[in-house]
Amino acid sequence: DWSMGAYREAKIKEIREQVGSGRVICGLSGGVDSSVAAILIHEAVGSQLTCVFVDHGLLRLNEREQVERLFRDHYNIPLVVVDAEERFMSGLAGVTDPEAKRKFIGGEFIAVFEEEAKKLGGADFLAQGTLYPDVIESVSFTGGPSVTIKSHHNVGGLPERMNMKLVEPLRELFKDEVRALGRELGLNDQFVGRHPFPGPGLAIRIPGEVTKERCDILRKADAIYLEEIRNAGLYDAIWQAFAVLLPVRTVGVMGDHRTYDSVCGLRAVTSVDGMTADVFPFDPAFLSRVATRIVNEVQGINRVVYDYTSKPPGTIEWE
Ligand code: XMP
Repeated sequence: DWSMGAYREAKIKEIREQVGSGRVICGLSGGVDSSVAAILIHEAVGSQLTCVFVDHGLLRLNEREQVERLFRDHYNIPLVVVDAEERFMSGLAGVTDPEAKRKFIGGEFIAVFEEEAKKLGGADFLAQGTLYPDVIESVSFTGGPSVTIKSHHNVGGLPERMNMKLVEPLRELFKDEVRALGRELGLNDQFVGRHPFPGPGLAIRIPGEVTKERCDILRKADAIYLEEIRNAGLYDAIWQAFAVLLPVRTVGVMGDHRTYDSVCGLRAVTSVDGMTADVFPFDPAFLSRVATRIVNEVQGINRVVYDYTSKPPGTIEWE
């Protein structure tokens, strides 16, 4: 794409001018945005960039390994992986309010990140994969200009505390443009086509209290759902698909005995930019197949429901 090629060159020049000989730290989330930002910045300033990936224990199945492979092995970008699962799980104990979860995770993320930055000897710049919709989402069409629907943990907060300047090369872009830029930078279609994943991760897909055990249950259900979506050739037709684990138990029957386990919700939406969304109209046979597999294969879930709510009035995530 000629325009993305030009954009890439212009941004690289801009990043070099901004950063000079300074050191840059980039927090990776495992998603497309921070990855594209990091790869672009690495192309501009090479080893002046170090990436930090905080594993908060709220990631999807095998996500951490995929990030390690891509950055360390494929792009050869310096990467620090922080295992912070216990820290996040103990901090989330007893927390059920969605905004309290988001605020804790955002704050803890900053704390972990600051510690790692200090260990690395500090940096002059902080790189973020902030997109245009992230910048304007708090100015919401549903609630009027100053209503925050959800506190996004990837916007703001860090620079003031850490005394670092921001490098945000994707700030003018929408998601589809970031994907085009990612392709331009050599990322494969499967990677750039990955569905968005929120900073607070699985925590906001587990209404009620988040525990490691519930994260493990959700990871299994989510992986089955996504595997079936890929096998059916539907992945790229969907903006975002994921499972949620509800704090509700219902009665079921398996063979000749009674079960009393959690409900799993499935969500899939189409969208252009995440600001509005429509429900993806699965074939009922597909949903039956997924429900059967999840109930049979995931211990702790005995019922599966499909979320039929568009955005607005629903949001894409459940919290
Ligand atoms: P909602 O749930 O507000 O989500 O309809 C819109 C899009 O934003 C993603 N999302 C987040 N992304 N940090 C992020 O990086 C966050 O805190 C966050 N919360 C929601 C969500 O997955 C969807 O794509």
